[in-house]
Amino acid sequence: MPRVSVGKVADLPQGKLVGADIDGEKILVANVGGSFHAMRSTCNHAGGPLHQGKLEGKIVTCPWHGSQWDVTNGNLVWFQRPLPNEPVYKVLVEGEHPQNPGSVMIRFDRGRITPGLRVPPSWLGLALGNSCTVLG
Ligand code: FES
Repeated sequence: MPRVSVGKVADLPQGKLVGADIDGEKILVANVGGSFHAMRSTCNHAGGPLHQGKLEGKIVTCPWHGSQWDVTNGNLVWFQRPLPNEPVYKVLVEGEHPQNPGSVMIRFDRGRITPGLRVPPSWLGLALGNSCTVLG
């Protein structure tokens, strides 16, 4: 499966969200208390960009209409009506070292992310032919 880096650990401090477009799939990666979590970033309600939302603890609030999601499990926490949960994906952090900060790696396979295997040298690496762009 293709491997993609979405950033370095040092660039994803606690409470920060980053978005990535991986082969057309919008993904958010969140640092929650030092643990990294990945979830689909396209809100189930009307397609809002969840990676542009506000992260408080493990809850991200959609910037469009305020739905709230638990980034650790993709569950809907609050909205005015039921919505399907968002898919979540495993994230692997490798290579943490003071002189060589590690990267947050994901492995992407048709909408699913599983742990990656290596550390690319730079922020937002591109690996194995996947198209990956940081959304901010
Ligand atoms: S698009 Fe996210 S709550 Fe409406």
